[in-house]
Amino acid sequence: MGKVDGKVALVTGGGQGIGRAIALRLSQDGFAVAVADLNQDTANSVAEEIKAAGGRAIALKVNVSDRDQVFAAVNETVEKLGGFDVIVNNAGIAPAKILEEVTAADIEKVFNINVNSVIWGTQAATSKLKELGHGGKIINACSQAGHVGNANLSVYSASKFAVRSLTQTAAQELAKYGITVNAYCPGIVQTPMWSGIDKDITSAKGKKQGDATEEFGSKITLGRLSTPEDVSAFVSYLAGPDSDYMTGQSPLIDGGMMFL
Ligand SMILES: NC(=O)c1ccc[n+]([C@@H]2O[C@H](COP(=O)([O-])OP(=O)(O)OC[C@H]3O[C@@H](n4cnc5c(N)ncnc54)[C@H](O)[C@@H]3O)[C@@H](O)[C@H]2O)c1
Repeated sequence: MGKVDGKVALVTGGGQGIGRAIALRLSQDGFAVAVADLNQDTANSVAEEIKAAGGRAIALKVNVSDRDQVFAAVNETVEKLGGFDVIVNNAGIAPAKILEEVTAADIEKVFNINVNSVIWGTQAATSKLKELGHGGKIINACSQAGHVGNANLSVYSASKFAVRSLTQTAAQELAKYGITVNAYCPGIVQTPMWSGIDKDITSAKGKKQGDATEEFGSKITLGRLSTPEDVSAFVSYLAGPDSDYMTGQSPLIDGGMMFL
């Protein structure tokens, strides 16, 4: 039996990478899971994977930068899964570029997806939890790049600093509703996103693919890159009852890349 049977979680960007691992892990913990992604096919396949393992899940096509779509996804989650307790605002993008070349369109796109999504997800979750008359948990994807500016990832880092700030503000404003708000800050996780960052950085520097991974990876105290499951184990804690006395925090889960 899972530790939170009967509860419901919505995970954005749940179709692949860290979001997929979170959706699978929360299902093992006993949550019914709404797997929300821009990519309907990957969302479907993760929901099917959960159901095949005996869990409850639905797949939702959602663009997290669109406020109405995020509110609609929370509503559909309640209609189809019968409740709502946790939102994991996980979806994000990380285009790599040197600061001198950043355009207005780059900034708008990254902030729409990485920052606005957290605001819309926080609003939608809060509104639904108030309507349902109980508390819940809001969990945001931050990054080690949300604690220190990363070269080649200026706009991404700025967006993750914003996520850390929003996590602190929301925690203060929502405590009175029994809602806690925390974030997770991974280091280098082996997902399609990280492969893309490595490709962007190495090709801009005329190096071979994998060089950026080697360079960043050499700074990890535990001597290996992160798996998505390293991160989902921590999100399981944030989503479950053991983290009830924690709010407004953005801890690193990075294998010891940084020491705060
Ligand atoms: N991979 C890493 O090393 C790493 C490190 C620190 C933080 N993070 C953060 O963790 C989160 C997940 O990263 P990942 O590595 O699994 O990424 P990923 O690119 O592998 O997966 C992201 C998922 O989000 C979805 N998505 C993208 N834009 C969307 C949108 N507008 N609406 C809905 N869904 C959308 C994609 O379709 C994809 O399924 C991100 O917020 C990322 O910034 C990742």
